[in-house]
Amino acid sequence: MKALVLKRYGGANNVEFADLPRPTIKPDEILVQVYAAGLNPVDNIIATGSFKPIIKLQLPATMGSDLAGVVVELGSAVTRFKVGDAVFASTFDLGVGTLAEYAAVPEHAAALKPDNLDFVQAASIPMVGLTSWQAFAERARLQPGQKVFIPAGAGGIGSFAIQLAKLLGAKVATTTSTGNVDFVRQLGADEVIDYKKQEFEELLRDYDVVLATLRGGELERSLQVVGTGSKIVSLVGPPDAAFAQQRGMNFAMKFVFELLSGKIIRLAKRRKASYSFLFVRPDGRQLANIGDHLAASRLRPVVDTVFPFAQAKEGLAYLAQGRAKGKVVVQMATSVPEA
Ligand SMILES: NC(=O)c1ccc[n+]([C@@H]2O[C@H](COP(=O)([O-])OP(=O)(O)OC[C@H]3O[C@@H](n4cnc5c(N)ncnc54)[C@H](OP(=O)(O)O)[C@@H]3O)[C@@H](O)[C@H]2O)c1
Repeated sequence: MKALVLKRYGGANNVEFADLPRPTIKPDEILVQVYAAGLNPVDNIIATGSFKPIIKLQLPATMGSDLAGVVVELGSAVTRFKVGDAVFASTFDLGVGTLAEYAAVPEHAAALKPDNLDFVQAASIPMVGLTSWQAFAERARLQPGQKVFIPAGAGGIGSFAIQLAKLLGAKVATTTSTGNVDFVRQLGADEVIDYKKQEFEELLRDYDVVLATLRGGELERSLQVVGTGSKIVSLVGPPDAAFAQQRGMNFAMKFVFELLSGKIIRLAKRRKASYSFLFVRPDGRQLANIGDHLAASRLRPVVDTVFPFAQAKEGLAYLAQGRAKGKVVVQMATSVPEA
């Protein structure tokens, strides 16, 4: 089968198409014929090698972690799916790539695709859906009426997180460039700050939750908008000691992460806020919950651009520019069945 693989660390130059054997499945896995694979910024980051201490990959490795497709084979212990089911899944951090014609997906990571979404739309969801869900519903325990600040509202995460925060009853503020102001308003943002013209920290006050999505000085700036007892959940680091503990890392790594996150944790404490780093995990049952909301049109996919499989590298390069409005998706098969 055709797959897009990372041959060795060092960036996009080391990514190329390869012919690989079709994966064989373990008892708890389903073999999925992939129709579409969502791209995420982490795909480009992994290729550089900077995630090596966190994600152990056996190279060459098939890239990608979001997929939608059809089950073509079942492991002997699989109970929730049958051959022919349309599914979507995140295989992030499971050592399974999705930019391939077939992927062996652990049953626990997959969910039935909502009927009203086509495969491209479904493949756009897993990473951003699970990350937003785990940030708001699990980590921050976002309550109706609370105020949440989601910087970069137009991106893959932002375009889903705004919708989910609204669904949970929160009031949402976001930042975006001038051309995307109407776009994020349509997603449900109550307070939109055009970062080309205004500084968000001069306008926002007493926010209960911040979902940190931007690197650089943005995280520290966002401390100025939080109130007492607020929670800052960061998707972009720095990783903290709790993260090292959760991943069973050794004492040295725990110490390094403690050092890296020490400053932001201290600054947050001064504002009577808490800081934590979130690293998304695949979860088919959570994805099924998200799927129910999608099926009922309480949430919707936002797809910026679709690239054919042969142009997957161009898709990764486009995403790396950091200007996507919603998600970038690769379409694998030429004859995708109707949704
Ligand atoms: N820890 C985890 O588990 C986890 C999970 C998922 C994602 N992430 C990380 O979260 C980050 C966001 O991911 P993503 O998928 O949303 O990325 P993305 O889709 O590439 O984000 C692109 C968006 O960022 C906006 N943007 C860029 N600079 C901005 C600025 N200064 N202020 C406001 N908006 C700005 C752009 O809007 P404009 O064109 O309007 O500027 C664009 O729409 C990435 O670093 C990703 O790796 C982490």
